[in-house]
Amino acid sequence: MSELQKDKKPILLSGIQPSGHLALGNYVGAMRNWVNLQQDYLGIFIVVDMHAITVRQKPADLRNRCLSFAAQYLAAGIDPDENIIFIQSHVPQHAELSWVLNCYTYMGELNRMTQFKDKSQRHGDNINAGLYTYPALMAADILLYQTDLVPVGADQKQHLELTRDIANRFNNTYSPTFKVPEPFIPKAGARIMSLQEPDKKMSKSDTNENNYISLLDPPDVLRRKIKRAVTDSAREITPESLHHSGIGNLLTIFSVLNDMSLEAVANQFEGQQYSVLKGELADSLVAFLEPFQQRYSKIIGEKGYLTDILDQGAGQARYLATKTLSKVYRKIGFVPAGRS
Ligand code: TRP
Repeated sequence: MSELQKDKKPILLSGIQPSGHLALGNYVGAMRNWVNLQQDYLGIFIVVDMHAITVRQKPADLRNRCLSFAAQYLAAGIDPDENIIFIQSHVPQHAELSWVLNCYTYMGELNRMTQFKDKSQRHGDNINAGLYTYPALMAADILLYQTDLVPVGADQKQHLELTRDIANRFNNTYSPTFKVPEPFIPKAGARIMSLQEPDKKMSKSDTNENNYISLLDPPDVLRRKIKRAVTDSAREITPESLHHSGIGNLLTIFSVLNDMSLEAVANQFEGQQYSVLKGELADSLVAFLEPFQQRYSKIIGEKGYLTDILDQGAGQARYLATKTLSKVYRKIGFVPAGRS
C-alpha cells in the first residue's frame, strides 16, 4: 500500500480492549462491518491494551490476548496490506497526546461518563485515575489519525461526543488541528444478546461464560451453550417469538449466520419446537466458526507472520501519529526538540 493511496481513502478507526474473549457480539457488531468497509476506507484497527489496564489484568493473559485478538481481526478477513492493525502501547504518541488532551477535558465532562460510573461500581476496590481519564485516551486514539468515521455502539456514543467536543475546543483555541470525527452507525445491525440473560447485551468480559459465544469456542462448547440458552415456557416458534427476548435472540443469531431476514427465519421455523431451532442454530454456528478458527490457528501458529504485521502496523501508525502530535506540540507552545 503506497502512502499516497492510503491518504486518499477516508479513515475509519476502531479499537477493542483485549479483555475477556472476542464474542459473536463483537463479530456482528464490529468486526464484520470493518471487513465490509475496507474497500472504501483506510481502516485503523487497534488492540487497545492501554485501555485494558484501567482494570487489573494478569500480565501473561494480557500479553496472550493482545496477540490473539490481532490474529482474530486477521482471521475475520481484515487485509493487513490495506489496513493498519497494531497494538496501542507500540505507538507512544497515544500516551503523549492523551496527556495533552487531559488538559483540555473538564472534570465536569468526565463526571458525566456513564461507563465510568458503571465500571467504578463493578470495580469498587480499584477506582483509579486511569479509569476516570480514559475518555481522553480514547480521544487521543481517534484524533491522532485525523479520523473521519468511528463505528460506535450505544455504549461508546458518549465517549465519541466528548472526543468531538475536545477536538472542537482545541481547534477553536488555536486553529484547525484535528478532524472532528463522525460516528458511524451501521444500518440496522442486529444486536446479539446474552444467552443466559437475554435482556442484556452479549459481553465478551461476562463472568459467566455461558452468556457469550466466544469466536474460539470448540464445537462441543458451542453446542452446549446453545442447548442451555434461556428461552421461555412456550415451546413452539410463532411470529410472536421474535419479540420474546431469549428465543428472539436465537432467531436473530440464526438470521445473522445464514444471512436471512428475521421474518424469513421466523417463517422457516414457525410451528417447530424450540429444540429444533437450537439444533439447527448449533449446526450453523459450528459451520460458520470452523473456517474462522482454522484461519486463526494458522495465523497464531506463525508468530513471526503476526509480529511482522503488528510491527508494520505500528510503524505506519507512528508515522501518521507523529504528524498530528508535532502540530499539537507546536500550537500549544512547546519548544521543538533538537534533532541530535
Ligand atoms: N472505549 C472502547 C470500548 O471500551 C474501546 C476504544 C478505545 C475505542 N479507543 C477507541 C473504540 C477508539 C473506538 C475508537 O469499547
